[in-house]
Amino acid sequence: MRLAVIGGSGLGRLEELKDVRREVVSTPYGTPSAPLAIGQLEGQEIVFLARHGEEHTIPPHRINYRANLAALKQLGVTHVLAVATVGGITPKMAPQTLVVPDQLIDYTYGRAHTFFETGNSPVTHVDFTYPYSQELRCKLIEAATVCGLKVVDGGCYGCTQGPRLETAAEIRRMEGDGCDLVGMTGMPEAALARELELEYASLGLVVNWAAGKGEGVVTMAQIQANLAAGMGKVRQILKAFVQLGQGT
Ligand code: HPA
Repeated sequence: MRLAVIGGSGLGRLEELKDVRREVVSTPYGTPSAPLAIGQLEGQEIVFLARHGEEHTIPPHRINYRANLAALKQLGVTHVLAVATVGGITPKMAPQTLVVPDQLIDYTYGRAHTFFETGNSPVTHVDFTYPYSQELRCKLIEAATVCGLKVVDGGCYGCTQGPRLETAAEIRRMEGDGCDLVGMTGMPEAALARELELEYASLGLVVNWAAGKGEGVVTMAQIQANLAAGMGKVRQILKAFVQLGQGT
């Protein structure tokens, strides 16, 4: 296994990485969000990529997801752990919940969402019945258990276009569709990983009740507070995950 971690909001750097070298990678799809940081986590070499850029300046709809995934593939990555902050829709997804989703629905538009464009490849339809790698999901849940942290096993992630947050009616519609969580970056990331035959799973941290599900409106202050409270746990799980992976 060669592991990459894609860090989202609140995880623009992995301070725990040792002996880091930074590689600026270019791909046929352009340049990734940031130089790739290659270093040791718990004695194992991993690759870290800041999805929104090192200074957190790239909004969800402007991320070059294809360049990000292609760059990881070029470096020989086989497994991708995506960390994401999400809004909670259903009752079990209260702020600060950690969740490993098992399904998703894509509500995004206008994003470069495939490597299989007309002209450069035969018509290709990848299977996406189960969008997340079961092997990686199980290991994430095991890692959380080792840390004594609770995670929700499964949930449907709805990916919206952003960068604005949703209306209460949009969230009601998403709940009716079966979504438990809402975020802005899970797609096309997961599908592109599948197209490149990368094992991919996501670890979500709920940072707010989705629009209309909590008291009043969604504020950045509540998001920041939950992010600060929860990211330490995400870091713990990542370390435990790598330890479990040693020797595989
Ligand atoms: N909506 C969409 N994306 C998000 C949210 C939300 O409420 N919270 C964190 N990411």
